[in-house]
Amino acid sequence: MKMWSGRFRQPLDPEFDKWQRSFPYDQRLLPFELSASRAHARALEHAGVLSAEDLAEILGGLNQIASHAESSPEFLNDPEAEDVHHFVEKKLAALIGASGYKLHAGRSRNEQIATDLRLFVRATIDELQELLADWIEAILARAGSAGSAAMPGFTHLQPAEPVLVAHWLLAYVEMFLRDSDRLASCRKRVNLCPLGSGAIAGATLALDRRAIAADLSFDDITANSMDATSDRDFAIEFVQSLSLLTLHLSRWAEEMILFSTPAYDFIALPEPYSTGSSAMPQKKNPDLLELVRGKAARVAGCATALETAVKGLPLAYNKDLQETQQPLFEAADTVTAILPLATGWMRAVEFNFPKMHEAAQSNFMNAWAAASYLVERGVASRQAHEAVGKAVQICLERKCELQDLALEDLKAIHPSFDSDLRARLALPDVLAIHDVQGGTAPQRVKQAIQSARKRVNTLRPQEPVAIRR
Ligand code: ARG
Repeated sequence: MKMWSGRFRQPLDPEFDKWQRSFPYDQRLLPFELSASRAHARALEHAGVLSAEDLAEILGGLNQIASHAESSPEFLNDPEAEDVHHFVEKKLAALIGASGYKLHAGRSRNEQIATDLRLFVRATIDELQELLADWIEAILARAGSAGSAAMPGFTHLQPAEPVLVAHWLLAYVEMFLRDSDRLASCRKRVNLCPLGSGAIAGATLALDRRAIAADLSFDDITANSMDATSDRDFAIEFVQSLSLLTLHLSRWAEEMILFSTPAYDFIALPEPYSTGSSAMPQKKNPDLLELVRGKAARVAGCATALETAVKGLPLAYNKDLQETQQPLFEAADTVTAILPLATGWMRAVEFNFPKMHEAAQSNFMNAWAAASYLVERGVASRQAHEAVGKAVQICLERKCELQDLALEDLKAIHPSFDSDLRARLALPDVLAIHDVQGGTAPQRVKQAIQSARKRVNTLRPQEPVAIRR
């Protein structure tokens, strides 16, 4: 039986009927639909709409649906179910008879889908926080074991200044800590219960909305029935946060790809996460990284699809909203699949520290340190800059580095250059002068690792959400 056939004289066009169904993809919401239905059934009993016997039967039936769905996937083969809500109603009636049809009293699918999607997003955020914590810990572990190894830092992809390898890795830690923070903040706006909103104007029965919310472990109830049944900003915000997260992952992937090329030779690609070429026998390709970079496009597309689906929608519920489900699921699935793989990659990659360290001492990456040396001696910074620029020019002609120039050559450029300059141009000194919070001086980086460790320890959900069975 359809959920709405009473006023229709003609059956649906079979092609249209099939085409408009969401059950093929919204069946994954079944556990949430069942939890929300249990909470609604209890509220109906409390309001005197269901007898204690009805309630017991309904709860029993809902539990049977849950266990059938878990034990046999064929149970979900139902070409007639329009959506997950219809499926539950049909199965309940089939399992417990007429009292099954009483469950829909005082509720609408419009509030049900809004609730199921909020429960889905909340559960996914909690899962992602665990995965993000693993991922950030993996990067942090590599930062912790990189010790005093240095590498070139680039701006414009041109050699700029040397940095500690740990400092470079910590840049990614910060990006992903912010991504985690964004998800935590999004979760607060997700974790509100729409049940009791009805189809648009609010439930027609005296349902205890707070009790329903408490059963489902929501923090609070939504404030406006029209908004609650028709907005999807919680899903948009979630997918936008995922889009930023994958954008960060794509930057990470791109740098790893670049640094694995022979031109850099900073990292050796881990074989378990790389593939060969069917034609060129020598190849080891960074497929995991390339796919991570590519999948960022897909998640950005999901965010755009969601934004566009809601743009210009009049209040309140419109069937367009059904179109928000697949991009939401796709973005969630894409990111939950990437994170453990990226974590495995990060644990397995080999860094070529000698090569990185050597590269950190070439291409005049100590030029700013040389200019700072002059500034310390009272030279105006613009003059210091000019003087070191001149010195670099000479080095380029002679194919050497600043520390190779003779003192008399340097003095000829600027009298404030002195014999202690050479030590100041050596890598440990160049790193050490960046002695500010957030800078690459080894002591600062050590502190930054400790602070990041503390922050990552707070990411994992404290306890699993308790939903009343
Ligand atoms: N499958 C629908 C969706 O995902 C459920 C809500 C249907 N509501 C309605 N009034 N037809 O949006």
